Amino acid sequence: MTTTRKSIHGVWSSRLAFVLAATGSAVGLGNIWKFPYIAGEHGGGAFVLVYLMCIAVIGIPIMMAEVMLGRRGRQSPINTMRSLAQEAGADPRWSWLGWAGVLAGFLILSYYSVIAGWALAYVFRAVSGAFTGATAEGIASIFERLTGDPERLMAWHTLFMIMTMIVVARGVRGGLEKAVRFLVPALFVLLLLLDGYAMASGAFDQGLQFLFNPDFSKIDANGVLIAMGHAFFTLSLGMGAIMVYGSYLPERASIARTSITIAVLDTIVALLAGMAIFPIVFVNGLEPGAGPGLIFQTLPIAFGHMTGGLVFGTLFFVLLVFAAWTSSISLIEPAVAWLVENRGMTRVNASVVAGIVTWLFGLLTVFSFNQWSEFHLLSFIPVFKTATVFDLLDYLTANIMLPLGGLCIAIFSVWVMRRDDSLQELDMGDGMAYRLWYALVRYVTPVAVIIVFLNVTGLVDFSRLLGMAG
Ligand code: PHE
Repeated sequence: MTTTRKSIHGVWSSRLAFVLAATGSAVGLGNIWKFPYIAGEHGGGAFVLVYLMCIAVIGIPIMMAEVMLGRRGRQSPINTMRSLAQEAGADPRWSWLGWAGVLAGFLILSYYSVIAGWALAYVFRAVSGAFTGATAEGIASIFERLTGDPERLMAWHTLFMIMTMIVVARGVRGGLEKAVRFLVPALFVLLLLLDGYAMASGAFDQGLQFLFNPDFSKIDANGVLIAMGHAFFTLSLGMGAIMVYGSYLPERASIARTSITIAVLDTIVALLAGMAIFPIVFVNGLEPGAGPGLIFQTLPIAFGHMTGGLVFGTLFFVLLVFAAWTSSISLIEPAVAWLVENRGMTRVNASVVAGIVTWLFGLLTVFSFNQWSEFHLLSFIPVFKTATVFDLLDYLTANIMLPLGGLCIAIFSVWVMRRDDSLQELDMGDGMAYRLWYALVRYVTPVAVIIVFLNVTGLVDFSRLLGMAG
């Protein structure tokens, strides 16, 4: 059956525009801020390997599934899921999957915006020369002064949310496509420059060893879950962001090729960031497991000591803000599209409503770094012993909600939707490539996600079954 649905929100001007927007969504704080610090906390190599495997066998197939559902449904994820469920003769309550995604988007953006606020603040630190010649201790104290002050955090968070709302209000095609076209290449260049600095630092080998030499005794079940959760997070999967962007994708654009391109670009950015950061960590005797402040405590040291550091440092944090910006708008787009479709709101009003809700949630993260830094809500659970409210929000969304969302998307795409429909929408012929996708989404993704969940709850110890250490 062919579909005749049209998106009321318009479509991207071309396949390239979609690639740019989806890459903008994928490449963000997840690659440059989060990947290095979680890899550092979980021992490096083995974590990185699990993450790369998850990108390849879960991430790419799920991205294809999400784009496919979006393009076929042509509406916000909530309404897309309802229409496609009806088309497949299934329960309309599949729309709840869209709701869960909207909730995940709010929660993620609530802390994402606070961290993006740090990057904004660092643009001003960098341009004023605050890093020039500074020691590791000096840089650490700049970071602590910022995060210790809830008023400043709130101000930067507010500014970033306003920036997000402005772009979202202007719609999918305004400005955004053009920003990414410049952003991603520029980010590449700056990361390469930082890698060059790291190479000359004297600890480049040690950094590479840390990132790429897997030691499986350093990763536990929880680390595996975090690596898998991050594969979803970094590719913007499991919550409808890529689905809603897919709903604006023109007919006849290759979903497979597009998804692979996006995943490869995203992964390269993360690895380049890791390769820049860890040598700086080691050469300065810093802690790889320092946590969320890692890049803010390492990269400024490099900028403070390299020639042209003032310019490069400023440019780097500007680009980081842009990368976060192009991701944040996709986090809120599913909610905004629904408000426009079902509540008849204008995009402007929908953006304001969604933005205010997110801003309020963001206060939880603002206080996690100062007033509430010693407040550990779930300290009775071993893995959450020292987790702040921010840590819990991050864990709940990235490691539980996104993989669960991805699992449901997988189940829907190949167990509920008719094979003919996915075959037609993916439009790649009934050959090897399609069959590989089908098998991965039908068996590998669900089994992998379920195993990792069971493993982390301790119900089943698969590493012992497989005879692995740890
Ligand atoms: N992928 C984004 C990043 O890596 C974060 C994100 C997650 C965006 C989920 C949209 C949806 O920073």
